[in-house]
Amino acid sequence: MPKTVIITGACGFIGHHVVEHFLLNTDFNLVILDKLTYASKGYERLRSAEILNNSRVRVFSVDLAHPISEGLQQEIGNVHIIIHMAANSHVDHSIEFPVDFIHNNVMSTVQVLEYARTLKHLERFFYFSTDEVFGPPINNTGYKEWDRHKPTNPYSASKSAAEQICMGYENTYKLPIMICNVMNVFGERQLYEKFIPICIRKILHGETIDIHCYPGCEKIGTRFYIHARNVAAAVLFLLQHGKVGDKYNITGEREVSNLEMAQFIAKVMKKPLHYELTDTASQRPGHDASYCLDGSKMEQMGWKLPVNFEESLTKTIEWTLENQEWLEKFNYKRGRTHLIAKAKTITWTTNPTLEGQPPALATSGNNWFTTGTIPISWSTTRYVIDAKISAARATTFISFRDSIGIIVV
Ligand SMILES: NC(=O)c1ccc[n+]([C@@H]2O[C@H](COP(=O)([O-])OP(=O)(O)OC[C@H]3O[C@@H](n4cnc5c(N)ncnc54)[C@H](O)[C@@H]3O)[C@@H](O)[C@H]2O)c1
Repeated sequence: MPKTVIITGACGFIGHHVVEHFLLNTDFNLVILDKLTYASKGYERLRSAEILNNSRVRVFSVDLAHPISEGLQQEIGNVHIIIHMAANSHVDHSIEFPVDFIHNNVMSTVQVLEYARTLKHLERFFYFSTDEVFGPPINNTGYKEWDRHKPTNPYSASKSAAEQICMGYENTYKLPIMICNVMNVFGERQLYEKFIPICIRKILHGETIDIHCYPGCEKIGTRFYIHARNVAAAVLFLLQHGKVGDKYNITGEREVSNLEMAQFIAKVMKKPLHYELTDTASQRPGHDASYCLDGSKMEQMGWKLPVNFEESLTKTIEWTLENQEWLEKFNYKRGRTHLIAKAKTITWTTNPTLEGQPPALATSGNNWFTTGTIPISWSTTRYVIDAKISAARATTFISFRDSIGIIVV
């Protein structure tokens, strides 16, 4: 009898690769639970990877920060494995909206754990965490699984908190918890706001790429990268070989500096690279220049990365160039927002030299705003518009001309 596996957050980037891998390499029946945030792009990844209509996949849109309703529990039925990946994952957003962000990541974990407690046949509860919980490395030494956590921003703090809560449930309620800490993931259908898609887009348009560095730009920041399909294979390996109550580091093949990564992408694209070194670590507290994990535990268990770094990166770049809709930016919503605003009917004029002053905003064509009063506040990274949208139009998709993040309350 095939096992039923819940994968939370699988409309997202890594999750949909895990679903794809499991469909090809197991007989599992898969249940996707996802709240469809802006980062999910709706069902677009599931559609693009031809997962959505697979008879072994069922998808439910649900906010896991709330208790899973009885009706949904009934609908899902027996569950053998839960892989909990749902989370907000963008560090900048966590710095800007820490309360919503932490609430989402911690409460969704608590509610999924509470649901897990009701399951009679649960064999594994697999919590998907990040290398960022350990903070930057000391003397370039990779952290081992049970080393202390030292998160440096609300995102990594929320992931660390969720890990601790999982372990608390493992001890108290004997839930079959397993945790993995994963390095920087890349692959097809990654969201436009991550470094590799940003590099591809900017190189394509001849724009300058910011290369994040250590304080004083003395050293360029680095990451260990791993392709999402390697991650998916590692998750399956751990379900087969890992121990309940233990933690595992899923590590990238080798360390790549931000500049090396941009150069590699430009080389594959056969285009010139324009870049500028930026001192992110000093200018933007909460942004670490490097992370490092020790991968020896999984190696000793016999784990090997199935796909090589250069090959998987080249394929990802080529795929993205053929599917450029994945490079398109869009606006994100927050809190009480009922609409992601997108489009052409509003003319939006900005002058970046007007630091500290609101940008001019003119509407043309349809007037989407019900009142003439549109308080506009300015931030250096994002223009924030508080506008009242007529209830009748709240479900309509509109789009703004540019990629400036916009919040419609
Ligand atoms: N991307 C990386 O490099 C990386 C590295 C290590 C760990 N992680 C972790 O992997 C997981 C997946 O990351 P990703 O890059 O695929 O992120 P993603 O943003 O692409 O996907 C996350 C998904 O979770 C869903 N989600 C968020 N909150 C939810 C909630 N309350 N209820 C239901 N669904 C919710 C979103 O709708 C989205 O589809 C996250 O837990 C992240 O912390 C990511």
